[in-house]
Amino acid sequence: MIIAIDGPAASGKGTLAKAVAERLHLAHLDSGLLYRAVAKRLLDRGVSLDAEPEAQHVAAALDLSGLDPAALRGAEMGEAASRVAAYPTVRAALVHLQRNFALRPGGAVIDGRDIGTVIFPDAQVKLFVTASSEERARRRWRELVLGGSPLDFDAVLADIRRRDERDSTRSAAPLRQAPDAVLIDTTHLEPDAALDAALAVIAEKRDRQDEAASLSPRVL
Ligand code: C5P
Repeated sequence: MIIAIDGPAASGKGTLAKAVAERLHLAHLDSGLLYRAVAKRLLDRGVSLDAEPEAQHVAAALDLSGLDPAALRGAEMGEAASRVAAYPTVRAALVHLQRNFALRPGGAVIDGRDIGTVIFPDAQVKLFVTASSEERARRRWRELVLGGSPLDFDAVLADIRRRDERDSTRSAAPLRQAPDAVLIDTTHLEPDAALDAALAVIAEKRDRQDEAASLSPRVL
């Protein structure tokens, strides 16, 4: 079973994807790490994020074993990732990596921006996780304060809005809810309640699939 979870920054989709994968014993891929890794490699080499051919080259050479989540998380790298993620050639270079990840017994949980729309348009389960921009900024702001790098709340909110705008208005695979995705709004939802909602959707889809399989004609 492929479970596609999309949504904007700080919506809670990453936490939810991890929890769903743990609960169902499935592999989990945070596809944002791929775009973050491309941006980081360019910056480490002193290459401008405006250089699309170099970004494509880096994306084509990327492999999942070389990703270090601890070095890639952080708002600055999120912003840089969103710039390289707007290049169609970079996105195209990362498609196979994501599709191959899910080619394993049992399937996988993948979260990102275009998983249900572009990478796995036929995923059995699609969730779109969102929250108000103010609530998402509050979460980011709290993380920064707890991490010892406080920032002005308005600056965090402006960052979130700028990233939303760039991710939703780009021409290549813009962030949007797939027509068949189930919306989970976490503005007033604790992580446990979001997990329960997601598991209920997954159980219902599984039941429907089992029912459809039992009704389909068998070749004897
Ligand atoms: O999810 P995360 O915040 O780590 O993603 C960083 C950036 O990578 C996003 O703002 C978005 O521009 C890009 N991204 C994307 N498609 C994905 C995952 C992430 O465009 N599937």
